Amino acid sequence: MKLSALITLAVALTVFTDARAVETRQEDGLGYMDGKSSTSSNDDMKNTKSANVSDDMYDAYHQSNDYDKYPTPKADGGKAWEDAFKKAKDVVSQMTVDEKGGIVLSHDGRCVGTTHGVERLGIPELCMMDGPTGVRPVHGVSSYPVGQAAAATWDRELIYQRSKHMGQEFFDKGVNVALAPVASGPLGRSPLMGRNWEGSFADSYSNGIYTYESVTGLQDSHVSATIKHFIGYEQETARHPYQTDSSTDQEPISSNIDDRTMHEVYMPSFAEGVRAGSGMVMCSYNNINGTTACGNAHAQNGLLKTELNFEGAIISDWGGVHSDVDSIMSGLDGSFPGVGYGGGFGSFWEDLPELVKNGSVSESRLDDACHRMLTPYFWLGQDGKHTPPEVKFVGNPYFEDGESTYTNVRDPSSTEVLRDLATDSVTLLKNNGGLPLNRPQRLAAVGALDGTDVSACSDSGTSCNYTMSTITIGGGSGYTISPYEVTPLDAIKEKVIQQGTELSYALENDEDVINEISSRADATLVFVSEWAEEGEDRDDLDIVEEQAKILDTAVKASSNVILVLNTPGVVDIEKWADNDNVTAIVETYYPGQESGNGLVPILFGEKSPSGKLPYTWGKKLSDWPENTIVRSDDENPQSYFKDGLFFDYKWFDKQDIEPRYEFGFGLSYTNFEFSNISVEDNHKKDDKEIQATNEPFASYDGSNSFYDTVKTVKATVTNTGDMDSSEVVQLYVTIPSEGEPIRQLRGFEKVKNLKSGESKQVEMDLRIKDLSVWDVVQQTWVMPSGEYVFYVGNSSRNLPLKVTCSN
Ligand SMILES: *[C@@H]1O[C@H](CO)[C@@H](O)[C@H](O)[C@H]1NC(C)=O
Ligand SMILES: *[C@@H]1O[C@H](CO)[C@@H](O)[C@H](O)[C@H]1NC(C)=O
Ligand SMILES: *[C@@H]1O[C@H](CO)[C@@H](O)[C@H](O)[C@H]1NC(C)=O
Ligand SMILES: *[C@@H]1O[C@H](CO)[C@@H](O)[C@H](O)[C@H]1NC(C)=O
Ligand SMILES: *[C@@H]1O[C@H](CO)[C@@H](O)[C@H](O)[C@H]1NC(C)=O
Ligand SMILES: *[C@@H]1O[C@H](CO)[C@@H](O)[C@H](O)[C@H]1NC(C)=O
Ligand SMILES: *[C@@H]1O[C@H](CO)[C@@H](O)[C@H](O)[C@H]1NC(C)=O
Repeated sequence: MKLSALITLAVALTVFTDARAVETRQEDGLGYMDGKSSTSSNDDMKNTKSANVSDDMYDAYHQSNDYDKYPTPKADGGKAWEDAFKKAKDVVSQMTVDEKGGIVLSHDGRCVGTTHGVERLGIPELCMMDGPTGVRPVHGVSSYPVGQAAAATWDRELIYQRSKHMGQEFFDKGVNVALAPVASGPLGRSPLMGRNWEGSFADSYSNGIYTYESVTGLQDSHVSATIKHFIGYEQETARHPYQTDSSTDQEPISSNIDDRTMHEVYMPSFAEGVRAGSGMVMCSYNNINGTTACGNAHAQNGLLKTELNFEGAIISDWGGVHSDVDSIMSGLDGSFPGVGYGGGFGSFWEDLPELVKNGSVSESRLDDACHRMLTPYFWLGQDGKHTPPEVKFVGNPYFEDGESTYTNVRDPSSTEVLRDLATDSVTLLKNNGGLPLNRPQRLAAVGALDGTDVSACSDSGTSCNYTMSTITIGGGSGYTISPYEVTPLDAIKEKVIQQGTELSYALENDEDVINEISSRADATLVFVSEWAEEGEDRDDLDIVEEQAKILDTAVKASSNVILVLNTPGVVDIEKWADNDNVTAIVETYYPGQESGNGLVPILFGEKSPSGKLPYTWGKKLSDWPENTIVRSDDENPQSYFKDGLFFDYKWFDKQDIEPRYEFGFGLSYTNFEFSNISVEDNHKKDDKEIQATNEPFASYDGSNSFYDTVKTVKATVTNTGDMDSSEVVQLYVTIPSEGEPIRQLRGFEKVKNLKSGESKQVEMDLRIKDLSVWDVVQQTWVMPSGEYVFYVGNSSRNLPLKVTCSN
């Protein structure tokens, strides 16, 4: 796997922090640098066809979706924000057009995004900062386990606590809006996608739960969440013109998604984020059906603001705006970074006041955008009881005239959350007795188990050298600057001192040394890491060549090799997975600053592993649908989401492909049995909704919310082994409708610390939505009639219990 030490321009945020790079781009004379005079209108984006695709196919996706057909609904605060909306409306009514233009436009302030304030009305600049794994790019904050690791715990409470603690750090730094969490964009359509680790589950239902808990956690700390990236954002390659390697004016990749797939696969997670009351949504870089996401009226006005009834603001990803009039009329509410970052992203909306004054944009649309930007601010109490402190850092390299003061906002109580996440995410994939380590006399540890020299790293992590080191987090806007790192080596050393074990370790690929220490040890831990970053998709599933050589050497020398993976998703381990000398395999994802402290209790058996894969571990790239990453020099590259509803495990099930490890899979040090499944009608009002969506559905039994519970599945889990442990009980459903996947996850519950011999009954509620499909013709959700099959077990392919019921 290629590991470029010098990655240029890959990341929007690298672009930001690298002034030289932006200048180079401008010299390149890319059309987009001056987007207003070149390819700035959506119409231009529809007209070139890729030679390979039939006209019919192309035309089917590239239909008119402009704002005459899909006008912006005006916000009114919805169910939860009535008072806040009134305050926003009142203050906006006192603003001049120029002042309103500033509310929706970012400039170079202290933060990654900084809106303009209106001092005379007491409206401050709003500070927006990256990102999904903690506050970036500043010091004095924690570096959390990434979203994918949090997902692997399958623990709602921990997912919530992660965001709550992270949110407190955002707040204490003075941030109004966190550019987090990642909802279903990316959802993980390709295992190579460079940002999958920032996301969570490769499954719409569980991704929705993750998104709900993450939004609630941040906002309970009085910081606005930003669910992103809306929508269909599944590859980094050709994601936006500001990073194209060629000097052509390449359009962003177009994600061509049919209506049913959009509703059933990509929207559910955003719906959960809206229900949780997310203040902001960030639109994505890609095109959708040929029109830029941030200028797409069908997606923004139609799907998000009408159907999901989103009452907050849609803000652009940095570099996601390509027009003035089209984008605001198509539903965008804020231009980021606007005129900031040296104007390197086109300075769209700079002239918005002019455009309003001369009638090109209606003032009521601008008012609505201002209401949407300010309502979450009032709702969160940021004008009063929960006013964030003054910003003292400089998080934007273009902000020049201010001192940066170091403030440490880390709370000691977060350490436990950081460790619990790093422990409970560890996923045991194979175990022929290699784990837990049984007080070895002599232990060898080889490969990527120590840290890297961080002086080489940029503040988006991109220029570090991870060839032979452990990785706590990936690169780009999801990176955070770690206050410290407890590496696996650090934590193992501490443990072997306690146990009186001899430890030999090797951090470089020296065959003789590795051979020697592995052959004399009772057990050999081999650490393999793989880097991923924003702005770039991985080329293949291969592991770093030097590390593969180490693994080869160790496996030849020792019959007790424990492989510890530290990867952003799937890597190809086919050469080693079945080898008898490999006695155990664990995945640790990107575990954050407490990495070693998270892993060691699992390796040495103080705690039983309980993580489960949040994605399918295929054997080879061709196991996934074709062309999930489109790499093309085409001026107007197209990606047809032909795999439709068959996402991740649903694809493997349908194609009958045997994965190496299936979605939801993970072993423990004990044994569980499942029994006594039942399903019953159960009418329960939804009590999770903060804001209400407006999703059309065929009413069922007089229920009046789409999210009311209609059925409950119960089952019992028993710990029949010797060790206390946690188990994730999973519920999959077959919905009786043509074209639906064979089974879909529709419930899960982590039963925590079940004692040896103990049983527990779990109850999993099914909401109307969980049993419904999107009817494209009627444009509504319907619950099909027929026989539903409910399966319970502990992975998408180990489902010992089954019960049916008819609707
Ligand atoms: C078009 O087809 C050619 C030959 O089959 C292929 O090499 C190329 O990648 C295709 N381009 C796109 C945009 O699919
Ligand atoms: C994209 O095109 C497909 C095919 O016509 C259509 O079903 C879908 O609704 C369109 N979506 C958007 C957002 O334009
Ligand atoms: C309105 O103002 C904008 C920005 O100054 C300008 O580009 C546009 O041509 C004007 N339109 C009309 C109708 O005057
Ligand atoms: C990165 O680290 C590897 C192994 O530690 C080393 O061989 C390589 O020279 C380093 N690369 C750079 C660009 O420093
Ligand atoms: C397994 O390890 C032993 C040394 O303990 C070695 O002799 C044998 O060749 C190894 N097997 C494989 C398949 O590499
Ligand atoms: C998963 O269930 C099987 C029985 O179906 C059981 O043998 C196994 O122990 C369970 N998984 C874990 C993590 O223990
Ligand atoms: C089996 O489940 C049913 C329905 O929930 C419950 O009434 C019964 O007590 C359970 N039996 C056992 C042995 O747990």
